Amino acid sequence: MADPFLSIQHVRKSFGATTVVEDFNLDVERGEFVSFLGPSGCGKTTVLRMVAGFEEPSAGKIVVGGKDITTLKPNQRNVGMVFQAYALFPNLTVAQNIGFGLKVAGMSKADIDARVAEMLGIIKLPQMADRYPYQLSGGQQQRIALARAIAPKPKLLLLDEPLSALDAKVRVSLREEIRSIQKKLGITTIFVTHDQEEALSISDRIAVMYGGKAEQVGTPFEIYNRPATKFVANFVGTLNVLEGTVTDAASGKVRVNSEEVLLKGKLNGSKSGDTLSLALRPEAISLGRQPGRDSSLSGEISEVHFLGSVIRVRVGIGGNTVSLDTFNSPATPPPAVGEKAEISFSSSDMLVLH
Ligand SMILES: Nc1ncnc2c1ncn2[C@@H]1O[C@H](COP(=O)(O)OP(=O)(O)O)[C@@H](O)[C@H]1O
Ligand SMILES: [Mg+2]
Repeated sequence: MADPFLSIQHVRKSFGATTVVEDFNLDVERGEFVSFLGPSGCGKTTVLRMVAGFEEPSAGKIVVGGKDITTLKPNQRNVGMVFQAYALFPNLTVAQNIGFGLKVAGMSKADIDARVAEMLGIIKLPQMADRYPYQLSGGQQQRIALARAIAPKPKLLLLDEPLSALDAKVRVSLREEIRSIQKKLGITTIFVTHDQEEALSISDRIAVMYGGKAEQVGTPFEIYNRPATKFVANFVGTLNVLEGTVTDAASGKVRVNSEEVLLKGKLNGSKSGDTLSLALRPEAISLGRQPGRDSSLSGEISEVHFLGSVIRVRVGIGGNTVSLDTFNSPATPPPAVGEKAEISFSSSDMLVLH
């Protein structure tokens, strides 16, 4: 990236003797929406708090718009933040909550009123100005928290699991709304989540984090289709893992159960006799031999779940079980548990996990 808007460089954070963020590096473009995705405790909030100025890095630096902000106080950074728990002021109305930062900044009452009205329009709650937080649903409270964060026109918007306290349906509609507001305003945003579907669906890029490090940074398409590490492959999306033994590293032959799969050019660094984890996404597997799928393995149907438009089938292959989805077809009855079955796939879709 030639000229990133936000640059997090070799940032580390220790609390006492414990290092919770290690050599974290990330460049974010102006207007970009980047998610931090990872399990609880991997350091997502800590990195976000260092960008916001609530924690000082033990090493490294943070640059915004070409300026080193590593040691600036939070209120000197022009950063808007939304937290997981509804952090609205309970004794202030919606309008007072949204206008809070503007008032602190010394804006005139007329300007505050105008900006608050504009924000209420953006979050589509124009009638709510005089309500108190307790009179709002969780989803509405988070929209107000978002409006409060963006009202001062921050350079950066930082969202720390803003949807995790909401129920599933509200979560999906609000994430789309956040994304559309973010795009409309063109505001550079970091969105923290532990929910892979959430990250995949709304991000320009995702930084997958594990143990205080960014394991991989890439577009949702790259992260899902070309996971760089075993952790990323397992954490993002559903994965079928088959254990295999390399029988001929040079030509790319791997034995799975008692059959052979040819993985041309995918066994770099392996030698004959090595055991490997091979992974396939469910959508890369067909039931039966299919044109265009150059590899197959035989097994036995172990589970069939009729879900309506989709039938989820599990097939036992030796000691492994693979899961795949087929579309319902009224003319073809679903397979039955216990039937012999062949699965087919393209060897180019096979991931080799190291
Ligand atoms: N102020 C602190 N003092 C000591 N340990 C902390 C502090 N803040 C966070 N941690 C530890 O740092 C690790 C990362 O925490 P956090 O960044 O909150 O993770 P995440 O947001 O990914 O769940 C955790 O093990 C947590 O217990
Ligand atoms: Mg957190």
